[in-house]
Amino acid sequence: MDTTSVWRATAPGPGFAKLQGNQSCDVLVVGGGITGVTTALLLAEQGRKVVLLEAGGIGSGATGHSTGNLYVTTSLGLAAIASAWDKSVAREVVRQRGAAIDFIERQCRELPAAAFTRCGHYRYGRFAQDHAAIEKEYRALSDAGCAVRMEDSVPGGLPPPSGSVLLLPDQAQFQPQAYVRGLAARAAKAGAAVHEQSRVLELDTQARTARTADGSVKAAEIVLATHSPKGVHLVHAEMPVHREYAVAFEAGEVDHGAGIFWWQGDESLSIRMHEHEGHRYLVAVGPEHKVGTHNAKAALMAVEAMANSYLSPGQAVHRWSAQNYRSHDGLPYIGRDRSGCFIASGFATDGLTWGTVAAIGIAGQLAGRGDAFIDRCAPGRFTPAKGAKALLEENATTVRSLVEGYLTRGQQEHLASLAPGDSAIVEAEGETVAAWRAPDGELFAVSPVCTHMGCKVHWNSVETSWDCPCHGSRFRPDGTVIEGPALAPLARRPVALG
Ligand code: FES
Repeated sequence: MDTTSVWRATAPGPGFAKLQGNQSCDVLVVGGGITGVTTALLLAEQGRKVVLLEAGGIGSGATGHSTGNLYVTTSLGLAAIASAWDKSVAREVVRQRGAAIDFIERQCRELPAAAFTRCGHYRYGRFAQDHAAIEKEYRALSDAGCAVRMEDSVPGGLPPPSGSVLLLPDQAQFQPQAYVRGLAARAAKAGAAVHEQSRVLELDTQARTARTADGSVKAAEIVLATHSPKGVHLVHAEMPVHREYAVAFEAGEVDHGAGIFWWQGDESLSIRMHEHEGHRYLVAVGPEHKVGTHNAKAALMAVEAMANSYLSPGQAVHRWSAQNYRSHDGLPYIGRDRSGCFIASGFATDGLTWGTVAAIGIAGQLAGRGDAFIDRCAPGRFTPAKGAKALLEENATTVRSLVEGYLTRGQQEHLASLAPGDSAIVEAEGETVAAWRAPDGELFAVSPVCTHMGCKVHWNSVETSWDCPCHGSRFRPDGTVIEGPALAPLARRPVALG
């Protein structure tokens, strides 16, 4: 299945050369999503010598697979932050995220392709049992100083609400891939050395050195802007990994105008429109699923079926998914951790705005500017008891997923019987093998043991990848790393095992 997002499909751009040879710099930024590119731009504008290494293409990770929505609240709700922390922290979240959206708006003044638009953010429930959560969120937003209001209805064509509709005005949406490409070009113009197709294969945080297949970079400081930090870091133990699925349809007769529309509860969906060169799209994003505990294809098809039944758009033209990492207490992890590197992670599904907050915060710290909120987001911070309880429940789910029914085929079933497009985890000749047969018949067999910290990978049928439920590393069928904290590939197994 083609899993190119509508953003990546409609914002192609000239590439940057891969890293060749050895370089040294003031700051190495690893990761070319919104966090890394914004950090590189701000540091280059400070006059620092910056190198940015991106494993794939600019925006090819979470940024190019996001929703393109920008809002001062968070996907899990401001009420959850006020509950885990207090009202003053919730107010500060709104202030920081609002400043990040203003920053993006300023950058977009000279990036028309980024299509920045101010719009309202609507949240509502479809059933009576959703009323209490909407009311609670309204109070939390009001307490944080937001100009939120309750309405009776949603724009025509959307499924009708049950009860009041929460409307947060003056939020925004944009084309995230066009934005991050534009910012990367601007960072390069400001003097940053930007390299695509330059995956970090080895990272020595003590010596501050990163090695790729064709070169290395030695830096005074390293910023790991990789969604989940590369290598082994304490925050990995605190971040459950989730995945959400998105479908872009030809809009057909559907037109809700600019706006972020979320209905929550059973069958929750997030809806927005996007227009590119006269083509109008309806983008629908479904609920999150814990990695390693769900069927990816079924989850994607459920989003498509829900959007079709509620909205009747045209044909589905793009399907994709994205992984996210939740922190244990609702705030992101931003700052220097015990490895000595700066990290930026734990953004949940709010990474476009949190990534910008992180970039501004890290660039400020490197310039010697203090910020109390960024200090509060430090990795290794004090853990509120309420957040820790939720974490323990999530981790119990992960452990169950690792031990229950891991083998997908009986011991007697040989890999030779695997049909094209099929995957299996089998015991063969005394060892466990994760296997996938390509449509052309070639069999790929690898070790199912994740090279990060030894958890067992699970098959992702939508993106034909082996995904690790523990900390989110993902691998191609041949074992090479796609994303996540793992640096080394899954070990290849001899295919003669069948
Ligand atoms: Fe950490 Fe797999 S990502 S064990």
